Amino acid sequence: MNSIAVTVLNRFRESFTSEPTLYFSPGRINLIGEHVDYNDGFVLPAAIDKGVYYAVAPNNSDNLNFIAIDFDERLSVAVMDIKKMSNWQNYVLSVVNEFVLLGVAVKGFDCVFAGDIPRGSGMSSSAAVEGGLAFALNEMLNTKMNRVELALLCQRAEHNYPHVNCGIMDQYANMMGRKDEVIMLDCKTIEHQYFPLRLQGCKIVLINSKVHHTLASGEYNIRRQRCEAGMAILKNDLGIQSFRDIKDVEALMPFKDKMEPKVFNCCKYVVEEIARAKKAASVLQQDDLVSFGKLMYATHEGLSNLYEVSCPELDFLVELAKQHSGVIGARLMGGGFGGCTINIVKDEAISQFIDTASKAYHQKFNIDAEAYIVSTGDGTKKIAVTP
Ligand code: GLA
Repeated sequence: MNSIAVTVLNRFRESFTSEPTLYFSPGRINLIGEHVDYNDGFVLPAAIDKGVYYAVAPNNSDNLNFIAIDFDERLSVAVMDIKKMSNWQNYVLSVVNEFVLLGVAVKGFDCVFAGDIPRGSGMSSSAAVEGGLAFALNEMLNTKMNRVELALLCQRAEHNYPHVNCGIMDQYANMMGRKDEVIMLDCKTIEHQYFPLRLQGCKIVLINSKVHHTLASGEYNIRRQRCEAGMAILKNDLGIQSFRDIKDVEALMPFKDKMEPKVFNCCKYVVEEIARAKKAASVLQQDDLVSFGKLMYATHEGLSNLYEVSCPELDFLVELAKQHSGVIGARLMGGGFGGCTINIVKDEAISQFIDTASKAYHQKFNIDAEAYIVSTGDGTKKIAVTP
């Protein structure tokens, strides 16, 4: 058993009386298709082998008892007293609240969790926290939801107490991920295809800028509002329903003067990124990694200049990657304003690239970046308790 799973299990046994069930709930990467999941676009995420481990058992009471090892905090609350709080408490309580809102008779349980996703790294530790608990409760309360229903429940949970109006990508990857495969998710129809991740002598390397802007979730919601404001004008004037109905950026140009500049730029980015993600999926399936890499750089440029969710640290890391001959493509990953860049790097260049990038980054920002070579993994699952 993984060492975090052992820690979680031991802590549970020390703290509570019954024997728990163990679960692993992964974080995610996203190859391309950023900030388009809430705009009816396509995204290409995969679950990873880093995530959150949960030990959960019913306790025959009306109380929910949580121990969050990574925060060194506990929370006990009666089911009927569940309400919005702050930090990690919001994520777990919001998941329970979604079961309550569905009319499920939630019973008391004990729960210990811990993980290995660096906080604020853009690998979606929040979806991992939500997904693990939702999966466990679905089993414990016998609610028989399927994985997609659970992903949608977790998305609602994130909208509700934490008030981040996220799209479906993170929760979907968390539930539906498969080792060695990429998910191509159509966020309009909520349908997906898998295809194998063939990186031909390259690996995915994440560089964690270690920057995490506290305004990020507020800014995230503002980006979403800009897209909605743009869409309202497009709907009204063109009678269309979605960004998918805009053929190309040309078709958007007549609206340049009718929208606030920031709104127009967001719409432009979204139309471009939807097309880019579609193209990227096809070149990746044709093993054309070089074209894929170029599309990653183009996405970063759009995220930085049009969508305005980058920061000097991320721009610097992507620029370093661009100048390194061993890197095929790079961009910021996830919501932005900090977190990681995702880089496709030739095997033989990985250690040298990490070394050069870390040194240059330290020299410029006085921050020690961290690098992770990514392995893909399966979606949320039960894990065996070995004695
Ligand atoms: C966050 C959100 C996702 C998605 C990404 C940006 O991770 O949770 O829904 O919008 O940002 O692509």
